[in-house]
Amino acid sequence: MIIPVILAGGSGSRLWPASRKSYPKQFTELVGARSLFQDTLARLQGPHFAAPTIITGDDFRFITAEQLDDAGVTGADILLEPAGRNTAPAILAAALRHEATPDAVLLVSPSDHRIADGAAFLDAVAAGKAAAEEGHLVTFGVTPIAAETGYGYLELSGTPVPGQPQVLKSFVEKPDAAQAAQLLAAGRHLWNAGIFMFKVGTIIDAFERLAPRLVMPVRAAMAAGEDDLCFYRLGAQAYARCEDISIDYAIMEAAEALRVIPVSCGWTDLGSWRSVHGASDQDTEGNTVQGSALQIDCRNSLLKSTAPGTRLVGLGLQNIAAIATDDAILVANLDDSERVKEVVAALKVQG
Ligand code: GDD
Ligand code: MG
Repeated sequence: MIIPVILAGGSGSRLWPASRKSYPKQFTELVGARSLFQDTLARLQGPHFAAPTIITGDDFRFITAEQLDDAGVTGADILLEPAGRNTAPAILAAALRHEATPDAVLLVSPSDHRIADGAAFLDAVAAGKAAAEEGHLVTFGVTPIAAETGYGYLELSGTPVPGQPQVLKSFVEKPDAAQAAQLLAAGRHLWNAGIFMFKVGTIIDAFERLAPRLVMPVRAAMAAGEDDLCFYRLGAQAYARCEDISIDYAIMEAAEALRVIPVSCGWTDLGSWRSVHGASDQDTEGNTVQGSALQIDCRNSLLKSTAPGTRLVGLGLQNIAAIATDDAILVANLDDSERVKEVVAALKVQG
């Protein structure tokens, strides 16, 4: 059995104003009728999977429980972070939760993706499990289609064969624009899908070797944790001492025993308005129009309004994201999608 570990504590700031601090994107219905978190739960259920371990922020505990209930998932173990410290401490905490079974295989999944071909994904997971059982850290790679700067890039040692584990030559997290263009042109790289598999013992050992500074505070936070209803809340003081760092920087860029499973499963990251636009239905001019929005003579634009009583109309726009919610409106060039987090930062400063 594979134990799913679902990361659901991110703030999704690039999808402002639809994704908010109190209700981030993984819990919203961005594309389709279920939330991305619920899609993730559905993908990781079935005969091959044990009940999931979910790690999320304390503030999201009731949304998480409600959405689990709504999806009919029982037996989930929900770990709560007093404050988010990014994915490396979260994954280590989840691994320590299973320390008594070091040979158990974990499948760590973000909750901000869509995967169109579930069967192809499960085939890749079966290949990943075999490689994880041999003691490797396993990632999944998808064919890149643009010089995106928001992803990790996986350098292969040979030509990718779908479903066949390959030795990874290097892992480059979030290159700048020039480096991303070089990596894309080189043709030897896949995008990191952000999904990882490993044995509990393998990942704890990797943290001890590559990021030992995280081990003490995360262990202390787990030891100081307490049960609260159906949740397990990590100790706040110890967790606050953890460095804020992602698994990609803390472990993957430095690890040696990495294997990548090339996968072609209709993977789409829904991290930015550009990727939401790319994953949504478009008219013949490349426009996506959602909610009460209307477009006239627009091209390649995303217009989305969830604001009750407010009509959003785009006239003659090109390559624009215009998003209206009940208390905020964003109008941005789709090419600046990665920069929307700067908006959130600016608003924080201004209050
Ligand atoms: N529990 C918890 N705590 N979850 C978190 C935290 C945290 O502090 N921070 C982020 N997450 C969750 C997010 O909700 C998301 O589901 C997942 O962890 C990944 O975090 P992101 O912040 O979305 O990472 P990213 O998109 O910038 O980069 C990662 O994913 C890319 C693919 O989408 C990396 O793994 C890249 O290498 C990869 O290409
Ligand atoms: Mg993401």
